[in-house]
Amino acid sequence: MNEVIMVTGGAGFLGSHLCDKLVEQGRDVLCVDNFFTGTKQNIRHLLSSDRFELLRHDVTFPLYVEVRQIYNLACPASPVHYQHDPVQTTKTSVHGAINMLGLAKRLRARILQASTSEVYGDPSMHPQREEYWGNVNPIGIRSCYDEGKRCAETLFFDYHRQHRLPIKVLRIFNTYGPRMHPSDGRVVSNFIVQALRGQDITVFGDGQQTRSFCFVDDMVRAFVLMMDSSSEITGPINVGNPVEFTMLELAEKVLKKVGGKSKICFKPLPGDDPRQRQPDISRAKTSLGWSPTVTLDQGLEPTIAYFRKLLEA
Ligand SMILES: NC(=O)c1ccc[n+]([C@@H]2O[C@H](COP(=O)([O-])OP(=O)(O)OC[C@H]3O[C@@H](n4cnc5c(N)ncnc54)[C@H](O)[C@@H]3O)[C@@H](O)[C@H]2O)c1
Repeated sequence: MNEVIMVTGGAGFLGSHLCDKLVEQGRDVLCVDNFFTGTKQNIRHLLSSDRFELLRHDVTFPLYVEVRQIYNLACPASPVHYQHDPVQTTKTSVHGAINMLGLAKRLRARILQASTSEVYGDPSMHPQREEYWGNVNPIGIRSCYDEGKRCAETLFFDYHRQHRLPIKVLRIFNTYGPRMHPSDGRVVSNFIVQALRGQDITVFGDGQQTRSFCFVDDMVRAFVLMMDSSSEITGPINVGNPVEFTMLELAEKVLKKVGGKSKICFKPLPGDDPRQRQPDISRAKTSLGWSPTVTLDQGLEPTIAYFRKLLEA
């Protein structure tokens, strides 16, 4: 019998690409989502596959299903969405982790946590290595997400130490690609949508703050490599593209590729916005043999094409 793999948050941006990959590999997939930020559109093409099942469920409530592996991705990822209902965001990370870890413990299933570079907060170490404990504001407007994800990591490692649960923790850095939410305020989708609509491109601060951007295909490859890695590899492991760009450079690239008449305009920086974010991916390279292969120029093409089609529809 083919053993079922569960993907929570499977109708979201990263989750839907992960479901695609797993189904493509001939695995049976149970996608669990409450459609807070995910959409049926993202997984509609999979509904006709015998290998794919969809369950509407909120991970803050317990779930009893028989699965072999759990990818825990459920959680709104963009500030606009996670700040919309911050209490629910913390519950999704913390209660969601408790429920999924409890299920994994009962089934002795492998469980992977989609953690985040936000656990480093506004880092004083650059680039960020996994040993760095972070610089996180516990009471700010991003804290529901950052501290929720930190607590989820704590729970994963306590389940591992206390119950010998096979865990995998990935710290994901900025990832972009087709199926990002068009109005979630994340910088890549924001710039593309603004440029396609002929609106001015909004750069916060002086635009000199840097980010690194990983294309979704590279990220999904890291997920599967991590889940299938030997059991002593628990992480945390940073995954992302270490090549840095300033926000101004990104805006200029997008403008050039989209064309049109948009101009760049500057607005004040929002609260707790980190100046720099860049992963040290040495651990991913040595433990998983993983490094990103898609450049920003390559990845922007299909992403722009996706949004162009979406906005035309
Ligand atoms: N995309 C990135 O750059 C990035 C970076 C770091 C971490 N991550 C993490 O990766 C995961 C996926 O992110 P994404 O970019 O695909 O975001 P997304 O918002 O597109 O996907 C999240 C999915 O989780 C679902 N969800 C939210 N709350 C839920 C709940 N209580 N119960 C069930 N489903 C719920 C949403 O409906 C959505 O389908 C998240 O955990 C996020 O924190 C993403």
